[in-house]
Amino acid sequence: MDKLVIEGGARLAGEISISGAKNAALPILCASLLSREPLALANVPALNDVVTMRRLLARMGVEMHAEGATVVADAGRVTTPEAPYDLVKTMRAAILVLGPLLARCGEARVSLPGGCAIGARPVDQHIKGLAAMGAEISVEHGYIVARAARLKGTHLVTDLVTVTGTENLMMAATLADGETVIENAAREPEVVDLANCLVRMGANISGAGSDRIVVNGVAALHSAHHRVMADRIETGTFLTAVAATGGDVMLAGGEAGTLDAVLAKLAEAGVRCEASDAGIRVRASGRPRAVNLRTAPYPGFPTDMQAQFMALNSVAEGTGVITETIFENRFMHAQELLRLGADIEIEGNTAIVKGVPRLTGATVMATDLRASASLVVAGLIAEGETVIDRIYHLDRGYEALESKLSAVGARVTRRR
Ligand code: EPZ
Repeated sequence: MDKLVIEGGARLAGEISISGAKNAALPILCASLLSREPLALANVPALNDVVTMRRLLARMGVEMHAEGATVVADAGRVTTPEAPYDLVKTMRAAILVLGPLLARCGEARVSLPGGCAIGARPVDQHIKGLAAMGAEISVEHGYIVARAARLKGTHLVTDLVTVTGTENLMMAATLADGETVIENAAREPEVVDLANCLVRMGANISGAGSDRIVVNGVAALHSAHHRVMADRIETGTFLTAVAATGGDVMLAGGEAGTLDAVLAKLAEAGVRCEASDAGIRVRASGRPRAVNLRTAPYPGFPTDMQAQFMALNSVAEGTGVITETIFENRFMHAQELLRLGADIEIEGNTAIVKGVPRLTGATVMATDLRASASLVVAGLIAEGETVIDRIYHLDRGYEALESKLSAVGARVTRRR
């Protein structure tokens, strides 16, 4: 099992190029199922989750091939409208094939994703919305089994804000009969990127990025070319790393407009970020100031940046209070940060982080994707050597992390 070995203390300086967004690429790859014509995608990140998704789609009969850095998905023939447990259990985003399969094939059999380290993560809103659109849908032996001759447009109000729930329902609605309104929709930039790709494919969508999305169903979608947006969470992770180590780094391709809440918190911490067409330049020196934050659906502070900010608060001046409102178990990184010398008290969904002057290296274990990112940030500032175990979690969501960090002066290597 691969480990990352980090010798802490290096100041970061230079340029890092930001990859395509995992959480945009995954739904957009699923959107290829909606058309009999090929979908060409640029800027698809080389991540394990993307490999898993491409494997899943190929099993369904989607012809996948790469033309340089462009991935072409051709769903001319969907032979097997099914997402089996062995793939879904390793990547819960596979649930995103449910809406497209129903809309395109009139049937789908998708394994329930099951829980994960950060929470139960039910998919009841996905199921409820599709049923409201006329699907006959049940759960049998751990699989969602769904049928619909043709989905019908309807007025949906989700009980809570769900990113992939919004994406599944929006994709299903593109080929439904009539108008679908999704109220209480997720506003994340990845939802907007997916909507932009669907519109390029011929879908009729308005309101993406707001909490009310309106989709008028069309008979068929056609071929298109789309460039996946830059990964805002990868960008935020590197911003936090520089904030912690001190330095001056240009994040080429970073889109500041998708990170307002994170940039506001970094400014509060005393970190200087300058946005331009080229990306985001981040400069920091000395200890950051502690910040309080509360995660919330976009445009609030992203839950996917909570763990990284806990690492930053661990070495900040003062005490920062972090409240996690999205997932019920997303503080797994706290125990590992304590091993590095952090001072963190957990009370329910709140973490009280008292900044300490320094962390000291230790062996720690990654538990989930963003928790592992948090341990990387901490390892970059801890005195001595930090060894992060189980970094397969990291490889799901970060492309070439150790080489990107090494290129700006970090002392980090992968040990098989
Ligand atoms: C997406 O997950 C992201 N994943 C997550 O990123 C991200 O943390 C999350 O949105 C929140 O922003 C992808 O886009 C592939 P939700 P998703 O449905 O859609 C509850 C990462 O690190 N809920 O918005 O699964 C749910 O339990 C990953 O890249 C229901 O109760 O999250 C959670 O408490 C981690 N019923 C809350 O809503 C449902 O039917 C928000 O979940 C759906 C969700």
